[in-house]
Amino acid sequence: MTSPPAAHNAPMPAHEKGIELCDGSALEERGAAVLFDVMLWDEPVRAFALRYDGRPVAYVNRCAHVPAEMDWQPGQFLDASREWIICSIHGALYQPADGLCVGGPCKGSRLIPVRVEERGDKVYWYPSREIRPLFAPCS
Ligand code: FES
Repeated sequence: MTSPPAAHNAPMPAHEKGIELCDGSALEERGAAVLFDVMLWDEPVRAFALRYDGRPVAYVNRCAHVPAEMDWQPGQFLDASREWIICSIHGALYQPADGLCVGGPCKGSRLIPVRVEERGDKVYWYPSREIRPLFAPCS
């Protein structure tokens, strides 16, 4: 049996373990979102995380209709029924669970998701090929 390559035993970069976003308790069920900044390709943009049906979800704060931020007040993304993410500009409605637009001028489009995970009492977000930290995390 051969030993794994040395790189196999290297410590995992911090971003592969997730980047701490907030305490889980900061995300109340269908409550206000936690805002955070990311790089979308080479552009700094705002993202948001909220809790819906018990689990955290996160998206880039950019409407699929016009690339504009959607919250009607900072961190307020849900409509009056607390069922939909609503764009404050022209009223597009998105499913919080998967970001699919189900009503409005961009019906059938999707928000850009940010992977988040709750472990213990913390929520972490995970960079991807297109979404990276604003600043490289220390590993
Ligand atoms: S900018 Fe969001 S619905 Fe038009």
